Amino acid sequence: MPRTGCVSTRGEASGLKSLVLQAYPLVMPAPTRPGSGEYPTVLSVLPQAGELGVEAITAKLVSLFQSQEYEPPLLPGVVLELMTLSWKPDVTAQEIVVVLSRDPMLASQLLKLSQSTLYRGAQVRSLHDAVVRLGLRRVSDLFCRAALEMRVFRAPGYENDMARLRTHSAFTAELTRLICRETEVPSDYAFLCGLLHDVGIAACIIALNEVAQSGPGVSLQAAWPAVRELHEWASEFLAKTWAFPPDLVRVLAMHHGGEADPADRQVLAALRIADALAEEVGYGFHAEIPEGQLKKAAQVLGLDLLRVEKLRDAAKELAEAFSH
Ligand SMILES: [Fe+2]
Ligand SMILES: [Fe+2]
Repeated sequence: MPRTGCVSTRGEASGLKSLVLQAYPLVMPAPTRPGSGEYPTVLSVLPQAGELGVEAITAKLVSLFQSQEYEPPLLPGVVLELMTLSWKPDVTAQEIVVVLSRDPMLASQLLKLSQSTLYRGAQVRSLHDAVVRLGLRRVSDLFCRAALEMRVFRAPGYENDMARLRTHSAFTAELTRLICRETEVPSDYAFLCGLLHDVGIAACIIALNEVAQSGPGVSLQAAWPAVRELHEWASEFLAKTWAFPPDLVRVLAMHHGGEADPADRQVLAALRIADALAEEVGYGFHAEIPEGQLKKAAQVLGLDLLRVEKLRDAAKELAEAFSH
C-alpha cells in the first residue's frame, strides 16, 4: 500500500479537532462559495491559531523538512515509470495500458478525468480507449494529475486549502500547455511544469498538519507568509526526492523569479504568465504572484499587449471550462 504522505494516521488530528471545538465553539461560518455547501475547515476558521509568529512557523517548517524523521509525500512509482515510458519513441499503447493497470484506483480516476468536458467529454470506456483518443503523452499527463490529486494534495484539516491548490495546479498546467504553443517547448513538458510548480505548497501544508499533531494548529492563512517564502525551495526539494530530471527541478525551484538557465527561459516565462493569469481569472492560490511577473515574462517571450490580451481571453475560456 503506497504511503500518502507524511501525515500521521494515529488519530491525533481528530483529537485535536475535538479539543479545539471545545475551546472555540464554532458558529457555522458561511459557505466558501454561496450555495456550494462547502464550508471552511476547523483549522482555517481559527483566528491566528497557536499565535505563532511567521519566523517561528518558518523555523518549525524548515526544521521539520530537515529532520531525519521527515517523510516527504510520495509520488507512486508507477507515475515515474509512466513518465519515462511515454517518452520512448517506440512505445505502444499496450505497454502504457499495462503500466496504468497496476494502480486501479489511479486508473479509474484517470478515466473520470478523461471524460470531463475539459477534454471534450471523450467517450472513454477503457484505458485502451483513453490512450487511443487522448494520445500516450496526454494520458500520461492526466495520470500524473490523478496521482497528485489523490496521493499528495491531501491533508486532514486543510481540505479546502488543498482543494484550491489542486484546482490551481490543474488550471495552471492546462494554461502553461496552451501558452507553450507559442514557443518550442513540448506541450506535455509544459503541462508537467504547471502541474507541479506549487507542489512545495502541498508539502508545507502537510508539514503544518504534522505541527498540528503535537500542538495547536496553525491555519494556512496565518502561516502563509512563511509558506509563500518557502514553497519554491520545497518544490525543488520534492522534485529531487522524486528523482525528477534536472531541468524540471530547476524550473520548479525558480518558478516566480531569479536568473534562469537559458534552456529554461521559455518554459519559465510561459509558466509565470499562466500562474499570473490564473490569479486574474479566479484560479490563483492566495497572493503568490510577485508584482510585475506577467509583464516581465511576456517580454521574455516577445509578446506584445495584443497577444497578452488574447492569452487573457484564453484563460477566461479555460476558467469557463473548469467551472463545469
Ligand atoms: Fe508558486
Ligand atoms: Fe502557482
